[in-house]
Amino acid sequence: MKHLLTAAMDRDEAVALLDLAEDMHQIQDRELKKLPALRGRTVVNLFFEDSTRTRSSFEIAGKWLSADVINVSGKGSSASKGESLRDTGLTIAAMGVDGVVVRSGASGAPALLADWIGRPVVNAGDGTHEHPTQALLDAFALRRRIHGPDAARGKALDGVRVAIVGDIAHSRVARSNALLLPALGAEVTLVGPPSLLPLAAADGTRLGVRAETSLDTVIAEQPDALMLLRVQLERQAGKVAPSAAEYITGWSLTDERLARLPQTRIMHPGPMNRGLELSSRAADSDASTVLEQVTAGVSVRMAVLYSLLASDQGGSR
Ligand code: NCD
Repeated sequence: MKHLLTAAMDRDEAVALLDLAEDMHQIQDRELKKLPALRGRTVVNLFFEDSTRTRSSFEIAGKWLSADVINVSGKGSSASKGESLRDTGLTIAAMGVDGVVVRSGASGAPALLADWIGRPVVNAGDGTHEHPTQALLDAFALRRRIHGPDAARGKALDGVRVAIVGDIAHSRVARSNALLLPALGAEVTLVGPPSLLPLAAADGTRLGVRAETSLDTVIAEQPDALMLLRVQLERQAGKVAPSAAEYITGWSLTDERLARLPQTRIMHPGPMNRGLELSSRAADSDASTVLEQVTAGVSVRMAVLYSLLASDQGGSR
């Protein structure tokens, strides 16, 4: 693996990365959270969009592997003075960094950067396109819930039925999960208002996953996991359909819907809007994997940085 730009990978590659993340996960139980694997390596987190979980977990992941981690954000960098992505990337590369983690509002920006700078690039979310480490951490957390934390290693998600609910059209999380989960054998249904289901998903052919508009129909099927997505108001260009009230009526995981799902794991990538995508009771229930997903994020990002940058992995020159 030279870069991580997409969640499109084969089953063996995905299971191997999840297993490596299991190795990394053991550090959570240690008092001293430091491995020497990336000592002397420098990673830049280049974030042109806001982030809480993704940026801090990449930073923690790099630091726990002993890399030097530098955060550069769009606001406060020369990008706000009009510098192009290419010039920003070449500038950072010229300082001798070993890898770049990039989040951008522009779909495809990490792939361009990878071409330009000749160093390993990790896509930390690009526009409405992809968010591969999110899909990996979702798979990691779900695999642990399905098989048990001590029996997850080596396993995939064969036959596990996952419904992804909400603003599918604008969600890079949905797209990356729609690529990765089926590779692991899971059956994915995308659920949302017709206005927020991309046409490529609605006809069910191009993404290769099923699409549904009725959340209640999907709830009646008792999926193994329900993944709620944030409504991406910032990407909807002011056109919000349905309204918040209509959204709650049709697609929110309310207390009443939660009561109809006694066995289903409840997932959300965060940030959550309680009361809109899901009720507080759903977010805080025993079925909720929300905080496990956050913890998994550190382990998965350690596995990705290790795969790309550790010398014994053939990474970085
Ligand atoms: C997501 C993102 O930024 O794509 N959040 C995350 O990385 N955990 C989802 C979102 O913003 O709704």
